[in-house]
Amino acid sequence: MRVVISIGGSVLAPDLDADRVAGHAAAVERLVEADCEVGAVVGGGGVARDYIGAARRLGANEVQLDQIGIDVTRINARLLIAALGDRAAPAPAHEYEGAGEALRRGDVAVMGGVMPGQTTDAVAAALAEYVDADLLVYATSVDGVFSADPDADPDAEQHARLTGTELVDLVAPMSRGAGASAPVDLLAAKLIERSKMRTVVLDGTDPERIPSAVLHGDHSGTDVVPEGSRDPERWA
Ligand code: UTP
Repeated sequence: MRVVISIGGSVLAPDLDADRVAGHAAAVERLVEADCEVGAVVGGGGVARDYIGAARRLGANEVQLDQIGIDVTRINARLLIAALGDRAAPAPAHEYEGAGEALRRGDVAVMGGVMPGQTTDAVAAALAEYVDADLLVYATSVDGVFSADPDADPDAEQHARLTGTELVDLVAPMSRGAGASAPVDLLAAKLIERSKMRTVVLDGTDPERIPSAVLHGDHSGTDVVPEGSRDPERWA
């Protein structure tokens, strides 16, 4: 089974805690031991936001800010690579071909951002499409896709299951404007819809939830089941 896992920066490295990173590496290793090919895409989290905020005050333009964000995602990717040791390709792939080659060699492919104007949500969806993954998992700080930001709105309700089109329709209004609260951004949602990628959005703050979701389909987050998609064979 081939799986792409998106690990948000705020999940992997809200602060610099080696044990937390080791926990995520252990979850990836469980998947490898269960014969999964794993691609991991790592986000920038609060550290990226801090750097971007400082550079914005210094007058950097939006592309320059994105480039700083990308650099931070790659530093976080290197933390995960350090924890995975020989199991991972030695450096974050800068594009999808490199990540695909690493998977073909039998390595865990770890990458951060790729180009300005998007986030690692979209990188994970594009990598999943590129390597024809059986499953895409977003390990975020929120347990799935909600009708509104659950941290800001106590009436926000979780969606247990969505089609790709429903995900796009839900995320589109959330993605507009500053402080966007969508758990998966609009470009990612559109890539999931077009590639009919079976996707799970879950709370990844406890990394053990990731192997349960991948190996058994067992989780309490949101299943995105695009029209025409299939469950991974090993769930049968
Ligand atoms: P993240 O993927 O962590 O952004 O990339 P995010 O969604 O804002 O962070 P979380 O999920 O809330 O923690 C960090 C920043 O890096 C740039 C963007 O500026 C993004 O906000 N980036 C990342 C790119 O420009 N291109 C990429 O491919 C990836």
